[in-house]
Parts: sequence; C-alpha cells; structure tokens
Amino acid sequence: MSEQERVWFNPFLPGFFDDPYPHYKQLATEHPVQDHPLGFWLLTRYDDVLALLRAGQSVEIRNMSGQQQDPAAVLNASMLDRDPPDHPRLRALVTKVFTRRAISALEPRITELVDGALDKMAERGSSDLVEQLAFPLPFAVISEMLGLPQIDNARIRDLSGTLVQSLEVVADEETARAIGDAAAELQALTRDLVAWKRANPADDLLTALIAAEHEGQVLNEDELVSQVVLLYVAGHETTVNLIANGTLALLRNPDQFALLRQQPDLTANAVEEFLRYDSPVQQTRRIMISPYEVGGFEIPRGAFVVACLAAANRDEKVFGPDADKLRLDRKEARHHLSFGGGPHHCLGAALARLEGQIAIGRMVQRFPDLAVDGEIELNNRINLRGLNKLPVKVHATV
Ligand code: HEM
Repeated sequence: MSEQERVWFNPFLPGFFDDPYPHYKQLATEHPVQDHPLGFWLLTRYDDVLALLRAGQSVEIRNMSGQQQDPAAVLNASMLDRDPPDHPRLRALVTKVFTRRAISALEPRITELVDGALDKMAERGSSDLVEQLAFPLPFAVISEMLGLPQIDNARIRDLSGTLVQSLEVVADEETARAIGDAAAELQALTRDLVAWKRANPADDLLTALIAAEHEGQVLNEDELVSQVVLLYVAGHETTVNLIANGTLALLRNPDQFALLRQQPDLTANAVEEFLRYDSPVQQTRRIMISPYEVGGFEIPRGAFVVACLAAANRDEKVFGPDADKLRLDRKEARHHLSFGGGPHHCLGAALARLEGQIAIGRMVQRFPDLAVDGEIELNNRINLRGLNKLPVKVHATV
C-alpha cells in the first residue's frame, strides 16, 4: 500500500463522533501500529494496547498533551502522571483509604440517590437522563465521599468540566488558556478545602487521606491536592458516560433491553459489556523512556504513544466475530480495557461498576417502556466519549 492510500487516524472524518468504531476497525486491520504524520504513534490492536499498559516500568506517564509545561499541571503530581518510585508510593497511600470495603458500604446511599432520580423521571414523564441521573449520581457520590461542603460544588463542577478538556486534542489557544485558568483555580480551591478539612476533620475520604500513612510517609501538601483533584475529576467525568452510553446502547438494542429485564442477574456482566462496547475513556497515552518494539516497529525513546482502548475493545481475536454487537451475556466482556491495565489500572473501577450496576439495573427494572424522546446530543469528545443530552420518556412504572 502506498503512503497516499494509507488510512490515518482522523477524528475529523464525517460521522466519527456518531460512530468511531468503523474507523478504528479499519486502522486495526490495515495499519495497527501507526506512526502518525502529526507526531504521535497510535496502537489499535488489543494485544499491543495491553502490552503497552503492562510495560509500566519502561514508560513515562506525563500529562495528556505530552508537554512538560502543560496548563493542566495540577494533574502532573497525581499518580496518573507519575512513574516509580512516586507512583507506587502515591497509589499505596490512596488505596489505603479508597478501599473495597469503603466502596461497598456506599451501596445503600447509591441506591437511595438512584431511586430519588428515578422517582423524578417517573413524575415528569419526559426528562434528560444525563441531567437527572447520569451526571448527578457520580458527582454526588464522589463529593460526599470526599466530604466536600455543598457550597463549593457548583463551581468545582464547572472547573472540572473545563479541566478534562486537557484529555482531548486541544485545538486552539483560547481553550488551552481556559484549561490553565481552571486548573489554577481548582488547585487553589482544593488547597483551601484541605486546610478547612484539617481544621474540621470528619468521617470522610479527604480526612482519611490527610492522615494516611504508608511506611512512615504521608502525602505532602502538593501531592494531597493533586490526588484529591484526580479523584474528584476521575470520579465523575467518566462514570457519567458509562451510565449515558450504556443506556443509549440498550435503547438502540431492544432485544438486549428485554434480555436484561428478564434476567436481572445479568446486570454485572451487562455493565462490563457497556464498558467494552462504548468505552467512556477511549484512549490513554504514554511517553516512551526507552525504545519499544511493537508489531515489527521500533518506537523511539521520547515518542508520544496513544493506546486506543476503544479499538482494542472491539478486537475480534479476543471478543469473537460479533465484537461489534452489544451482547449482554458475552462471556469475554470483562476482558475489556476500558479501565486500562498494568500499574495504572483504574483505582475507582469498583466504584464505577457499583454505580453503573445500580443505576442501569434499577432503571431497566422500573421503566419497561423507557424510550428516546427527542434529539440526542453527543459531547463530541475524542477521548471522554459521551452524551450531553439523552432525552427519554417513561410511562409505566413499578
Ligand atoms: C485511572 C478509566 C472511574 C479513579 C484510570 C485509567 C482509565 C480509567 C482508563 C488508566 C489511565 C492510564 O493508564 O493512563 C475509568 C473509567 C471509569 C473510571 C472508564 C468509569 C466508568 C473512576 C472513578 C474513580 C477513578 C469513579 C475514583 C473516584 C482513577 C484513578 C486512576 C484512574 C485514581 C489513576 C490510577 C493510577 O494512575 O495508578 N481510570 N475510570 N476512576 N482512575 Fe478511573
């Protein structure tokens, strides 16, 4: 194939945001290791993506644009962007308080929040699922877990929404400046919050993080602020899209909706399939600190590599010839890479799963006639793929 005929990754192709998967498939088939003319490498095959994620020790994580002086520098000190020895130390400290037990203890509260949102949807008949359920649920859960005072929430929510644009291709200077400003403000607000919490300790995650000690070490102030910002942002900017993308996938596949109603014990596997089928995080990135061999190519030291989790999740070698279909009873669903893999595997996976299972599970059982009711609005993001609006209507409720 000549250079001219080659298919390059191009999120600006018509229809990409509606359905990026045919493009990913073509890349994975024809050009799975791509040395992109815009200066990054792209991996789209499952085995290659997983190997890169597991090669944690030979890979430097840096903020998503790959720049040292990124405006979103507040995330640089978070574990997501650190290598050993900092990464295991930071992760161990946060893991100490963000335990499986702490997460399972949230089940009754998550159920209460979900049922409250479903009650409102039932009362209204027509509503926006993102506004009523998909956004407020993870937002309330992480805010309550951290013990944030109510008054700060609205502003922090706006800032977080701006900051996560650093995970996308930042196209213009104005956006880059807005991200920088949001990062600085979020950092300052979080610093104040930590000071307030030190003076007003309570039974919450932030108080526990302040006190957390591992092998005689605690988090210093900058590290504490960065981990809190990461938990906060990661805690709700992703799970919203699990709930919204999952619900949309169900509504577009009525046979699967019916299957889940008949077999509620499929809910846990269904959530794995939603994550696989339309991943809320489509890519992750690494900067190589040594040459790296993959698929017959040698990626040089210093290269910026994009691992396409969403493409890997549709790999027929792993998920079978019907990998492009939504199948809630798919046995291999849980092998998806939507939570990453290796040393940086998502620390909040158990929480995201629990929220997804309760939200979608209870909604499907309660609203047998859930249906789309108006124009769906995509968020048009390449990485944190999701919906701004999912108008739905319900009649029958039980
Ligand atoms: C890391 C996805 C929810 C906290 C990651 C990574 C992915 C991911 C792909 C790895 C990034 C990389 O390797 O570069 C998701 C998805 C979620 C979700 C799809 C929801 C459906 C959450 C929640 C929390 C959270 C609810 C916490 C409240 C974290 C943290 C890391 C992380 C702290 C960094 C781990 C490390 O660097 O060691 N997540 N996440 N995530 N996630 Fe999540």
